Amino acid sequence: MYKQLQQRGMAEPPVNVSTLARMKAAGEPIACLTAYDASFAQLVDLAGADFVLVGDSLGMVIQGYDTTVPVTVDDVIYHTRVVARGLRRAFLVADMPFMSYSSEGQALDNAVRMMQEGGAMMVKLEGGAGQVGIVEHLARHDIPVCAHIGLKPQSVHKIGGFKVQGRDAKKARQMVDDAVALEEVGADIILLECVPNELGAAVREAVGVPVIGIGAGPDVDGQILVLYDVLGITQGRLPRFVKNYMEGAESALDACQRYVEAVKNREYPAPEHCFS
Ligand code: KIV
Repeated sequence: MYKQLQQRGMAEPPVNVSTLARMKAAGEPIACLTAYDASFAQLVDLAGADFVLVGDSLGMVIQGYDTTVPVTVDDVIYHTRVVARGLRRAFLVADMPFMSYSSEGQALDNAVRMMQEGGAMMVKLEGGAGQVGIVEHLARHDIPVCAHIGLKPQSVHKIGGFKVQGRDAKKARQMVDDAVALEEVGADIILLECVPNELGAAVREAVGVPVIGIGAGPDVDGQILVLYDVLGITQGRLPRFVKNYMEGAESALDACQRYVEAVKNREYPAPEHCFS
């Protein structure tokens, strides 16, 4: 009865939360990418990405907005559904958009839609201490949760831009405490964006669940990048942590494979992609 989910006719079984926990325990870096459609989903899956996020970054890279704020639940469900069709092995995570989890009931309703209508295996939400109750509520209903801390792009208008977070000691301590509190109430993964290397290492040290970094330095359990940045599609000023893997690559698939390999070999992130 459970054969399909565990094998899907493949040599390598699909990734699940236990796989990710085992990878952390074994010290095997988790390679993650975003995807927004079936063709690219197939490509990142073939490249060996362990974890694929349908990020609300789709508002910027697909829809052309300046921020992720306008993205809706229906947008994410649509893109999650099409990405799900392209994946065989990778673990599928859908992002909860701005204001889609402002109360426990709303968060649960929307997370259920992401899983039932989109096919997501986990939801991601941006949150610190203020979202502990929401994460606890979702976890109590067996919804797997990835808690995104550090730079929270949905808060861009509140924090005044996309900036490195946790540079002062008090904020850094608060971030570590938030990660611990989120794990305690049931978060399965912590995603940490744009913090100094030292803070990335401190968060990883403080929690037992996998910590996936984006601009959080090398001392975390995995790395994620926005696919369009890896493929050199994004124009204009790019964050320091971005690396364009199309340079020297033969194809988009080759670029994604190089990224996955660089994460697995710990060649990415290099010092030039990190914050101090
Ligand atoms: O929306 C997104 O793609 C993200 C990643 C940048 C982690 O949250």
